[in-house]
Amino acid sequence: MALARLWRSAGPWRCRALLLAGLLLLLLRQAVGRTSPTEPLRGKNSARPPPNVVFVKTHKTGSSTLQNILFRLGERHNLTVAFPRYTYQFAYPQRFAPAFVEPLPPGAARYNLLLSHLRLAAGEVRRVMPPDSLYLTILRDPVRTFQSVFAYYRSTVPAFRPLANHTRPLAAFLQAPARYYDPADMGNGLARNPMAFDLGLEAGGEEGGSRWDRELERLNRTFHLVLIAEHFDESLVLARELLGLRLEELAYVRLNARRGAMDEASAPGLARQIRAWNWLDVRLYQYFRAVLWRRVERYGYTRMKGELEALRSLLRETRETCLAGEAVGPEETADELRPWQPDSATILGYNLRPSLPPAQYATCYSLVLPELQYHARLYYRQYGRELCSLPCD
Ligand SMILES: *[C@@H]1O[C@H](CO)[C@@H](O)[C@H](O)[C@H]1NC(C)=O
Ligand SMILES: *[C@@H]1O[C@H](CO)[C@@H](O)[C@H](O)[C@H]1NC(C)=O
Ligand SMILES: *[C@@H]1O[C@H](CO)[C@@H](O)[C@H](O)[C@H]1NC(C)=O
Repeated sequence: MALARLWRSAGPWRCRALLLAGLLLLLLRQAVGRTSPTEPLRGKNSARPPPNVVFVKTHKTGSSTLQNILFRLGERHNLTVAFPRYTYQFAYPQRFAPAFVEPLPPGAARYNLLLSHLRLAAGEVRRVMPPDSLYLTILRDPVRTFQSVFAYYRSTVPAFRPLANHTRPLAAFLQAPARYYDPADMGNGLARNPMAFDLGLEAGGEEGGSRWDRELERLNRTFHLVLIAEHFDESLVLARELLGLRLEELAYVRLNARRGAMDEASAPGLARQIRAWNWLDVRLYQYFRAVLWRRVERYGYTRMKGELEALRSLLRETRETCLAGEAVGPEETADELRPWQPDSATILGYNLRPSLPPAQYATCYSLVLPELQYHARLYYRQYGRELCSLPCD
């Protein structure tokens, strides 16, 4: 009725015509802006930028794969990344502090993404990142995580170093961990409960008690989503909904995998010892795996099944389009696509299919670009200078 009044009061035909055109435009915009219930809020045609994200990148949990997805998102939308002042981690294993962050580039009002390794101090991260940031992290089966940490950091973590030449180093360590492990040495953060350490928990020696229930609840309030590596695709589908991503934006290949990791024998005795040694990681993992399953239940099993099928067919397509073959060792990868290699393990990388058309090449290249190279590339893009590998100021 207000419309009819407006129409009558609009006066001469020219004004009426203008009013009509305005109304049509409004209707058209609503029709275009509407998305089907299965489409994410921020669909293909939406100009809305992605949300701000803090991803606490835990060690040896499959976190590089999600980091790569978020790097690509940032690059596509020209987002401002909170980079470490030097190298690719925030002065790890120190607790995060705003001073570890490279200042904003000229013209940027805020950071949008923080994705690099750190030891969490949530209050300090909040001083750097916008208040509406979404907090994500990823956890993995503690037995797998510890095996992987042990293999990757055997020559760097002080508690592991004496076992460098042992024939069965992990078994030897677990037989008498106290002989090698000095909890006062901060370099040993990854040597026990590595995921809890990354999330800022101070495990100490105290194993029981309601204190840990409170700590886990606090983390559950901090994080909008905790992905679980063993249910990576389900986790990604939930992340897609949370971040408003298009299905295509979830394409990934598994990055930073270790040669031989899949056929590693985890003898039941060894697994038991690993769980006992990493008791807080076990609690952390069990807690958040249950949280994830409740999330999946709320999302709906049928809906999840459909999304998983779509995701997996996208992943198959992506691999067929982009990759020359399976992941290969460093001797077989191109220099620029070779992941960083620790002394004690072989990390696999990918080669691209030869003669990809230029647009496809760019997409595929980003997909397989290892963490350090991606870091350096985005840093250069944002600051117009090289990333410092040592303090350079
Ligand atoms: C990102 O920046 C480039 C170069 O400045 C520009 O051409 C492009 O349109 C921007 N993209 C978005 C999504 O803002
Ligand atoms: C392991 O062997 C190398 C080469 O033989 C040697 O330099 C190193 O000191 C040994 N490390 C330990 C912890 O025994
Ligand atoms: C964790 O937080 C979610 C809300 O994000 C809540 O629904 C759930 O009950 C919490 N889980 C536990 C175990 O407290």
